[in-house]
Parts: sequence; structure tokens; C-alpha cells
Amino acid sequence: MPRSSLRRPGQDLDLSKHLIQADDLPETISSENLFGDHRPLELEIGSGKGLFMMNAASTNPEHVFLGVEIIGKYAKHAAAKLASSQCSNAKMVSGNAEPLLSKAISAASLEAVHVYFPDPWWKKRHRKRRVLNESSIRNLTRCLRPGGRFHFWTDVLDYFENTVELIAEIAPILGIPIPEDEIAAAHDLDYRTHFERRSRQNQIPVYRVRYIKRDEHQ
Ligand SMILES: C[S@@+](CC[C@H](N)C(=O)[O-])C[C@H]1O[C@@H](n2cnc3c(N)ncnc32)[C@H](O)[C@@H]1O
Repeated sequence: MPRSSLRRPGQDLDLSKHLIQADDLPETISSENLFGDHRPLELEIGSGKGLFMMNAASTNPEHVFLGVEIIGKYAKHAAAKLASSQCSNAKMVSGNAEPLLSKAISAASLEAVHVYFPDPWWKKRHRKRRVLNESSIRNLTRCLRPGGRFHFWTDVLDYFENTVELIAEIAPILGIPIPEDEIAAAHDLDYRTHFERRSRQNQIPVYRVRYIKRDEHQ
């Protein structure tokens, strides 16, 4: 299904507090370095148009949110929505999530990682391009604090099953997958993400789980 076109953000909208180019990130990513305090930090990988970032940040002001989106115009679009609603607890990074997870984010520093409707890369020879692969699963597991959450939703059954199997094999510390319920939408943008909205409006099944990282020392 093709993506709908994007509305351009207003020319005079100031994005300086909501959009960071990956090259301009601090060497270590933390809530203190990005938001100046110690609120729990949640990371979304592949934010697309940013619906999750908007909704999650506005309903959880006690947490801070960092969205990473590799396509510049989507990162800018999501940042523009955060800026126009004067959201103070969420920012977008324009760039690749991989080096953030493998280098810039410290071990056990994240409250949650969110991956919603990652690009499927259907062909077998392209599977290694999937954003959830062996290395990213190891890295995101390392970045989560004990008790931290990993949310993964998709409408691609094969991606869902492969990821659940891979996690059981290489990241058993994440425990068992906990199903997350579909929630009736109260209005047109009351979905976790734009892709969830699109799947549900087209009666496409969605597979939703969350994991909670165990505390090794308990
Ligand atoms: C299918 S879209 C889903 C967007 C959104 N999560 C939703 O559910 O509406 C997947 C998004 O992940 C982004 N993406 C893919 N690989 C990425 C990476 N390595 N780092 C950051 N974003 C990535 C894509 O550009 C795309 O916008």
C-alpha cells in the first residue's frame, strides 16, 4: 500500500527544539543530555509520521521520548507536529537508529523501546535489512533497564513469528511475549501509529506484543 503524501511544515515553524540531525547528537544519549533532567527515556525506532510520538508524549509527561526516523522528510514532519503542539518531552532524530542502539545509548538506560510496523523486506535475500535483526535485538536488549519494556507490533505475520523466535533464542532475558490488546479507537487519530490505523481500517490483522526485561540479579 503506498504512503499518503505529507503536508509541508510551515516555513516559520521553529524546529530547533524538536529535530536533531543524527550527526549533531551528543556522544552519549540520555534524558539528561537531551532534555536536561532524569525522566525515564523511551525510544521509538522508525517513527514515520510521528503519531505515536505525539500521543505518547502528551499522555506521559513524566517520561521523555526520542523518535528516530531514517527518512528525513518524515523525521521533519514528525518534529513539526511536536513543535506546533509545543511538546516539551519529545524530540525526533533524523537518521539511522542502528548506531544509536549499538554505540550512543548506554546499557540499561532506556525505560522502553518501541518498534511499530517496521518495513517488512519481504524477499528472503533482503531480510537482513530488517530493522529488527539479531544485532538490533541484542543491542536494544542491552539498552533496556531491568523492568524496561520492548513493544513490537506488525501486520506481517512472518516478521512477527521470526522476531518472537529470534528473541526466545538470543534474548531470553526479555522473557515471554505478552500480548497487547486492540483498543477501540475513540476518534480518527486514536491509534498507536498511522500504520496501525491503516491496517485496522483495511481489516488487516495486527500482531502486538510487549516484553519486559528481567532483572538478572533477582
Ligand atoms: C512502515 S513504516 C512505519 C512507521 C510508523 N512506525 C507507523 O507504524 O506508522 C517504517 C518506518 O521505519 C523507518 N526506518 C526504517 N529503517 C530505519 C532505521 N534503520 N532507523 C530509523 N528509521 C528507520 C522507515 O523510514 C519508515 O518510516
